[in-house]
Amino acid sequence: MREALDLWQQEAVQELTSAQSEQEVTQIRIKYLGRKGLITGALREIGSLPPAERRRFGQKANQIKAFIEKAIADRLEELRQVKVAQELEAAWVDVTLPGRRPLFGRKHPLTQVLDEVVTIFIRLGFSVAEGPEIELDYYNFEALNIPKDHPARDMQDTFYLSDEVVLRTHTSPVQVRVMEQQSPPVRIIAPGKVYRCDADITHTPMFHQVEGLVVDEGISFADLKGVLELFVTQFFGPETRMRFRPSYFPFTEPSAEVDIQCVICQGKGCALCHSGWLEILGAGMVDPAVYSFVNYDPERFTGFAFGMGIERLTMLKYGIDNIRLFFENDLRFLRQF
Ligand code: FA5
Repeated sequence: MREALDLWQQEAVQELTSAQSEQEVTQIRIKYLGRKGLITGALREIGSLPPAERRRFGQKANQIKAFIEKAIADRLEELRQVKVAQELEAAWVDVTLPGRRPLFGRKHPLTQVLDEVVTIFIRLGFSVAEGPEIELDYYNFEALNIPKDHPARDMQDTFYLSDEVVLRTHTSPVQVRVMEQQSPPVRIIAPGKVYRCDADITHTPMFHQVEGLVVDEGISFADLKGVLELFVTQFFGPETRMRFRPSYFPFTEPSAEVDIQCVICQGKGCALCHSGWLEILGAGMVDPAVYSFVNYDPERFTGFAFGMGIERLTMLKYGIDNIRLFFENDLRFLRQF
């Protein structure tokens, strides 16, 4: 029996040395120290030994039991360290590598130009008004003197959401909303998105406009000209040539369109402008018919309004010949601004 104990001790040591996992170590523990294990069994046999031998055998069996328990704990610790070392190796980080530069965002060129336009008018004493992009037919057309059967509705290809609701085709409805809420003097600009069923190299179905409206006593076409000339020279520079061309809008009388000289061909005529000039905005004196929708006294008040396309301004300022570049999200294009 005592020789068997020595043998089990040797065997347990050998088996633990070749054990490669916690599970294998557990099996060895069960084999020697479990409830039906070899050492446990031997300890249980003590009672059947002659009394003289019991003490020495018991001591020996307990020593070997303690020895194997320690060998098991040591082997488990070794295996744990091997595992930690493997994990560290797998998750190795080279702290000497150069860091990755974070990508900085920047404002879209259209937002930059919109901000610039708004700033110029705020300096002139205008305040900013807003209106909804989903608009009632009443504000988009009717209260702007464009009744349902008016041929001017054909000037703008409208997205209708229902008979009475449209995606606004221009920012002019904000004029009516502001005048409904406020008595003269009025001096506002209204920037925002507008929608038309229209697409080629100078037109997109969604684009941005800035509306302007000034109403007070004694406002004349000279005020309109002065404000727009000041705007064009501040935005494009003092040398910029511009012209007022007679035009027609149902909500202004008289009406004009403002062109500036094409920056791409310097007025010679190119694929973008054809004539050497590019239209940037529509304008005019507010038609008295519009005042009747907002209860302004047309005998007392006069005013002017204008609406400009932000994409058009940006293309002219930076010499961009295709409006679709603004909406393709090509970073090579966007990073130039
Ligand atoms: C209007 O929208 C009028 N509401 C402007 C106005 C306001 C006149 C106040 C009088 C008083 P028009 O349809 O011409 O007018 O558009 C104004 C500007 O928007 C144009 O000069 C052009 O710069 C721009 N624009 C028009 N359609 C498009 C389009 N599909 N894509 C990009 N820009 C456009």
